Parts: sequence; C-alpha cells; structure tokens
Amino acid sequence: MKAVLIDRYGDAHELKYRDVPAPEVNADEVLIKVFATSINPVDWKIRQGMMNSLPWAFPMILGWDVSGVVEKVGSAVAHFRPGDEVYAFPTLSPKGTYAEYVSVKAGEVAYKPQKLDHQQAASLPLAGLTARQALFDHGGLQAGQKILINGAAGGVGTLAIQLARNKGAYIIGTASQRNVDFLKELGADEVIDYTKENVEEQLRDIDLVLDCIGGKNQKQLVKVLKPGGMLVSIVGLNSAVDFSAKQIRTAFFMTKPSSGQLQLITALADIGKLIPVIARTLELEDIQKAHRISEAGHVRGKIVLNVASK
Ligand SMILES: NC(=O)c1ccc[n+]([C@@H]2O[C@H](COP(=O)([O-])OP(=O)(O)OC[C@H]3O[C@@H](n4cnc5c(N)ncnc54)[C@H](OP(=O)(O)O)[C@@H]3O)[C@@H](O)[C@H]2O)c1
Repeated sequence: MKAVLIDRYGDAHELKYRDVPAPEVNADEVLIKVFATSINPVDWKIRQGMMNSLPWAFPMILGWDVSGVVEKVGSAVAHFRPGDEVYAFPTLSPKGTYAEYVSVKAGEVAYKPQKLDHQQAASLPLAGLTARQALFDHGGLQAGQKILINGAAGGVGTLAIQLARNKGAYIIGTASQRNVDFLKELGADEVIDYTKENVEEQLRDIDLVLDCIGGKNQKQLVKVLKPGGMLVSIVGLNSAVDFSAKQIRTAFFMTKPSSGQLQLITALADIGKLIPVIARTLELEDIQKAHRISEAGHVRGKIVLNVASK
C-alpha cells in the first residue's frame, strides 16, 4: 500500500510517500480502507522530535484521524462488518493513518456520520474528542456558564464552540480579526481579537477557560477566571503561573480514544449540531505542504487529506 513515513525526525522534507506492506489485523482490530485523514499539530510535533520520549522505532507512519470503510474484522470483533463506513481517532502509534489501510482497535472505531462525506468525517475524531473531553470530562461545563476558548479558530476550538453552544453556555473566543465574524456565526457570543486586545482587560468572572494556545498567556487567563474557576489546558500548564491565589482548579490531559464518545459526535453531526470546519483539502501526496501550512499556526478548522476516492 502507499503510505507516508518518516525515517528520522526533522522538517517536512522527512515525510516520504512510498510503498509499504499493508497492516495485519489482530483479533480485536478492524482493518480500515482509508478514504481520508486529517492533520493535527501532534503530527508535526512528533515529526519534529518534540515527543521523542515515545518508545517508537523508525520508520513511522504518522496521522491519527481516519474515515473509511471496514475491509476486514479481527476474529474477536462482533460489532463491525466489512463494508461499514467508519471513522476513528486511533491510539497514537507509529502505524498511523497517513496510509491506504490502517488497523484500529474496534473499541476506538465508530460509525461515520451519514450526513458527512469521508473528508468531513476525517476532520472530526481527534479534535472532536479533545473538545468534548476538555469541556465536559475535565471542565464540567454546565448550561449558563461563561467559557473562554483561547485559540477558538483552530481544529479543537471550532468544535469546542459548537459543543459549548449545544450545552447552552455563554461563549467567548479569542482569534485574529479575520476569524471574528466567522466564529460568531459558528456560535460564539463574543470574540476578542488577540492581536489588538488583552483578554484580562475585557473579561471577568469566567467559569471555565479552555486553553488551546498555552505559554505566557496563561497568566492573563487566570485573571479572567472567577475565584474557584477552572482552567483546562490541552497544551500544558505554565509552571510560572500561580493558580493557587484564586483557588483556580486546573487540568491538563491527553485525549483518549473512545468509540462511545465518537458515536455521540456522530449523532450530533447527523442532526447538524456539529459542523466540520475545513480550511483546505489536499491529497496524501501533498503531505509536506499540509504540514507546513499547519505548522504556521493559523489554519481555520482543519486540513484534510484525500487518501482514496470512492
Ligand atoms: N492534549 C491533547 O491531547 C491535545 C489534543 C489536541 C490538540 N492538542 C494541542 O492543542 C493545540 C491546539 O490544537 P488545534 O488542533 O486546535 O490547533 P490548530 O488547529 O493548529 O490551531 C490553529 C489556530 O490557532 C489560532 N491561534 C494561533 N495563535 C493564537 C493566539 N495567540 N491566540 C489565539 N488563537 C491563536 C489561529 O487563529 P488565528 O489564525 O485567528 O490566529 C488558528 O486558527 C495544539 O498545540 C495541539 O497540539 C493537544
């Protein structure tokens, strides 16, 4: 099969499109013929060697979003059949989804939303599960609460806005000027242009902050929270920030694959309550270009890659 691999850490040139053997399918796995995958920042972070403590050997196939069709099921899989249209965020491993076929544990696979094509579906699993787990599993978001989504125009932020909207929260996002109207249409009540305004001068008494950006900015994010408020970060907690003064609760987590949660995302997509935001669709062979665009840090929503056509 064709796949994109890296033989060493480095810049986007290290991504090589070439032939490799198709994966085997273990008893608890489903072999998926990949129709589309999508880019997440973790892809280029791993490619750069930023996560080189992972015990993986080269060559590695990157990519951890897939939408496609079940080709084969393992002997212990009762739930899926060949021909089923499915999608998944598989556990991070060096046998990723930049490939024509991928084997994924059945417990990480869900039926693809029927309303969406494979390109749209491939944009949802990793970012959608991240948004869901951040808002509800870690953030405990309730109807009527005020949430600030820092970095609202990205892959995670655009889905977090919609999930928070469905819950009945009051949503404030940060983004640059070109995304302000777009995010309001998506469901944000207010959008702060971070290139011109400081959130700490604009906001007070926020219940929950979802930080998709991190860094020095977390000092300002603490100031906008109400005492006892919650900061959920998907990029890490800044050790220089004092969270204790206002009894701020904090969480940093790594997203967990989940067939059950993904099925809830399917249900929302099928009733039009979760709409994928796709900035660009490229071909798998265009992977180097796709990584460079994502690394520049200003993709609105997601970049999707076509792997095979129906
Ligand atoms: N812990 C986990 O398991 C987990 C899971 C998923 C993602 N993540 C991490 O979370 C981060 C966000 O992921 P993502 O997929 O949403 O990234 P992304 O799609 O690449 O985010 C791009 C967006 O960030 C916005 N942005 C850039 N600088 C900003 C700033 N200073 N303030 C506000 N917005 C800014 C851009 O909006 P403008 O163009 O308007 O600037 C752009 O739309 C990444 O670092 C990723 O690795 C972690």
